[in-house]
Amino acid sequence: MTLDRRFPSIHAMQECAARRVPRFAFGYMEGGIDREVCLAANIDALRRVVLTPRAIFDEAFEPDLSVTLFGRTWPLPFAPAPMGLTGLIWPNAPALIARAAIGHGLPVCLSSFATMSVEEIGAIAGSSLWFQLYCTVDPAIENDIVDRAEAVGASVLIVTVDVPTRTRRERDIASGLSVPPRFDRTTLMDIVARPAWALSMMGAGIPRLRTLERYLPKRLPLSAMGEHLANMTDGRVTAGKIERLRERWNGAMIVKGLLDPEDAVRMRDMGVDAVAVSNHGGRQFDAAPAPVDVLPAIRRAVGADYPLLADGGVRSGIDVARMIACGADFVLLARAFAYAVAAGGGAGVDHAMRIIKADLRQAMMQAGTPRLEGLTACRATDRPGST
Ligand SMILES: Cc1cc2nc3c(=O)[nH]c(=O)nc-3n(C[C@H](O)[C@H](O)[C@H](O)COP(=O)(O)O)c2cc1C
Repeated sequence: MTLDRRFPSIHAMQECAARRVPRFAFGYMEGGIDREVCLAANIDALRRVVLTPRAIFDEAFEPDLSVTLFGRTWPLPFAPAPMGLTGLIWPNAPALIARAAIGHGLPVCLSSFATMSVEEIGAIAGSSLWFQLYCTVDPAIENDIVDRAEAVGASVLIVTVDVPTRTRRERDIASGLSVPPRFDRTTLMDIVARPAWALSMMGAGIPRLRTLERYLPKRLPLSAMGEHLANMTDGRVTAGKIERLRERWNGAMIVKGLLDPEDAVRMRDMGVDAVAVSNHGGRQFDAAPAPVDVLPAIRRAVGADYPLLADGGVRSGIDVARMIACGADFVLLARAFAYAVAAGGGAGVDHAMRIIKADLRQAMMQAGTPRLEGLTACRATDRPGST
């Protein structure tokens, strides 16, 4: 059966991923924090955004989906968001996602906590690499990571600032998830029930944090690894730290994980090239607002020309259009591509990108706009009757 028929939507891939990936790994990618109110709100808030279609034109048009960001034109206004530990979801996921993104001419965001190294993914992505940094306590380690990203040609540094403290996610606690994974009786039973995952994983080996592992003591027992990593990273990112990174990094810099207009303005004024409006996919703070709800105020605060990225709850091209209509220039998607890689490997990610592209084109035709900027004129409103 063709991929189109098996997976007509990202939702179909999500359902397949739930059957193919062990529960502890699926729960890791799927879950949020606390009661997962924020996670659900990201999706609900997007679906409430109504765009009014236009139908009468002087001339027929074909929508242009391209966007210019940091002096470079990208054919589509979206990309896979940085995701740590994706090797747990499917072996070699970072490379599979990177190759699909490059195939569509898109940037490749690589997490510091990725299961493939910045050198491995840099060899695939070159200057399309956008490296995501979690700051570290030891400035020498941080400098070394940043220098490695620069050495492999990364053009953008994403500094994530919304993980100020060690995160307690109930699903992961209950499933016994650890970094890197520890295999006990329950997880082993779980794995036995997912033979396709188990077989691929046997070939690839246990996922390791390949960018960071050189900074960990050799022969560190598995049980001490999570604690060591938590002590190594420093989530309390100060303005001074951003300033220092801004001076050190020659390429474009994005600060990811802001929801407050004043924070965004401060970053703009400090020479940060763009802000990513994000609540980390509902994984950090259950009381946080949905990015799409705060985007209009942040857009007003930073002005029309300052680049804004946004993510959270995006599962289709129509959602991409909604984010752009509310003020984003560029949209990131995490779980959509995690489902895709679990459901269909690299071909699955490529397929997901095609679906999102086709949906976005269709949304622009319906909205009657040949250019992405025109989406903002669709008078994005809340669906009447929604709470
Ligand atoms: C499994 C998973 C791992 C993630 N790891 C990281 C990470 O290492 N660094 C980071 O900045 N954001 C990380 N995020 C957050 C995403 O980059 C993104 O902000 C968010 O998930 C977008 O929401 P969505 O999953 O609804 O698309 C992760 C998200 C998921 C789902």
